[in-house]
Amino acid sequence: MGNWKMNKDLSSAVSYVEEFFKLARDTGGKIDIVLFPPFPLIHPVVEAIRGGARWTDLFAVGAQDMHFAEKGAYTGAVSGICIKSVGATHVIIGHSERRTLFGDDNKTVGAKLKSALEMGLVPVLCVGEPLDIRDAGREEEYVIRQLKSAFDKIETRSLRSFTFAYEPIWAIGTGRNATRDEIEPMHNLIRKWASKVGFQGGGDSVRILYGGSVNPDNARELYDIDGVDGFLVGGASLEAYSFAAILDAMIGKE
Ligand code: 13P
Repeated sequence: MGNWKMNKDLSSAVSYVEEFFKLARDTGGKIDIVLFPPFPLIHPVVEAIRGGARWTDLFAVGAQDMHFAEKGAYTGAVSGICIKSVGATHVIIGHSERRTLFGDDNKTVGAKLKSALEMGLVPVLCVGEPLDIRDAGREEEYVIRQLKSAFDKIETRSLRSFTFAYEPIWAIGTGRNATRDEIEPMHNLIRKWASKVGFQGGGDSVRILYGGSVNPDNARELYDIDGVDGFLVGGASLEAYSFAAILDAMIGKE
């Protein structure tokens, strides 16, 4: 999944999709591809994908955030209803940049998650610790707290599947990806937690993406780590060729 963050304009977004279709190999139905453009570019990207005619059912578009309310006096905010109406099927909830730069606390993240699920959007819930917490060896309790509060008001037993993204903050945009020893235990922890709180189908019904400095060179090694079901890619998703190269590395392993 590619999170464009605050990048691109209309023409570069549309030409990206055209270029990506030319470069990307067929995934054989095994890998879902989702792009997360800025809000105003969601609909043009959806249209460009529909016009592309190649495995469009595997190629979806999502929003990088949403407000928890359905509508109302929230100047500048965008509701789940609105993003759905322009063709988004997915939404990132609780990205660390929303948490640290825009004040989304655990309670807000929980309210957004609840709203996304009620609206039939597929949420990608981001969790991950800052460096001082990792250095103090407290990353597991930190992430568990994020998980607990995100699902505080949600009936987990009603969820048939769910997608998490483990994104350690110190690995985002730094060029320093987390290693197997750091990723594997955390993905195991998240899966065990999901199973314990009763997701339908247990821990196997959840997908856990890794995010943080994923690029074409490290993608295959990272995808090889037990419990890594995919990636949430930032910087390396901004160019169609490097996003396609990451996909290539994943197809190579499937
Ligand atoms: P980078 O891939 O640029 O490190 O960003 C990761 C991320 O935050 C994706 O949501």
